[in-house]
Amino acid sequence: MTEGAGSVGERSLRKAAALLAQARRVVVFTGAGISAESGVPTFRDALTGLWRSFDARRLATPDAFRDDPALVWGWYEWRRARVGRAHPNAGHVAVAAIEARVPHAVVVTQNVDDLHERAGSVAPIHLHGSLSAPRCSACARPAPLPTEPPLPDGAPDEQGDGRRVAPPRCAHCAGPVRPGVVWFGEALPGAALEAAVEAASACDLLLTVGTSGLVHPAAEIPRVAARFGAPVVQVNPEETPLDAVADVNLRGPAAQVLPALVRAAWDAADPA
Ligand code: OAD
Repeated sequence: MTEGAGSVGERSLRKAAALLAQARRVVVFTGAGISAESGVPTFRDALTGLWRSFDARRLATPDAFRDDPALVWGWYEWRRARVGRAHPNAGHVAVAAIEARVPHAVVVTQNVDDLHERAGSVAPIHLHGSLSAPRCSACARPAPLPTEPPLPDGAPDEQGDGRRVAPPRCAHCAGPVRPGVVWFGEALPGAALEAAVEAASACDLLLTVGTSGLVHPAAEIPRVAARFGAPVVQVNPEETPLDAVADVNLRGPAAQVLPALVRAAWDAADPA
């Protein structure tokens, strides 16, 4: 066992570190799990407080917004407030360290938070959009973020009902403004997906971190790398469908495993 790396085995960590130390072109593919230790709930976590009776996967749909825009906008404002109070954790910092060290590194994230950027990652590719880029749901023009302070967390109300917040109106066409994220059933931003596939097909190591690997097409990214012959290292405390393509599984939380991996890789590369 390695200190600070939870229950990750020493052999697996060494194997992954050797791959990282040799790699020239790395893709780091992240999901909600990398932000979990910053206090941002994953999609598979039960929602808490006001949102305990809602399923995140049902709120993240165009139908949900059409049926009840204030419910969905309120949920995203709640998430934006959580992210605003959160800080990047040691996992995000380790990803930025990989980028600084490896000749060509690309971060591809499914997350709509900005914790990679705040940890120092340069231009991560956001496959599922961003909480800070709302746009009009009718004419698609970008809209400013609301100026009022983001919602505070509240005590659960008696019905367990979510907090509704009417979305702002578009300055051009008065349509309801929507969060700038990709919902279930919507296409991913073409340029982002293309850049991610290109990076995955040309990399010599893909590190997948904190994703359930269930939501497609994003979940194809590690599989593309594997098809093109790159080794895949997975960091996740749980088993996922990506176990099938992973050459090394590091079972543990990202904020512990990634710093240990980075230390072991650079130690392997530059023995003191
Ligand atoms: P999920 O919520 O599906 O999965 C989170 C993953 O993180 C799980 O596999 C957990 O085991 C793992 N995890 C939890 N804590 C962790 C930790 N401390 N360190 C490392 N891993 C940890 O999130 P995503 O895979 O990101 O899409 O979900 C993919 C997409 O589905 C999201 O971008 C979102 C969602 O619904 C849309 O909104 C379109």
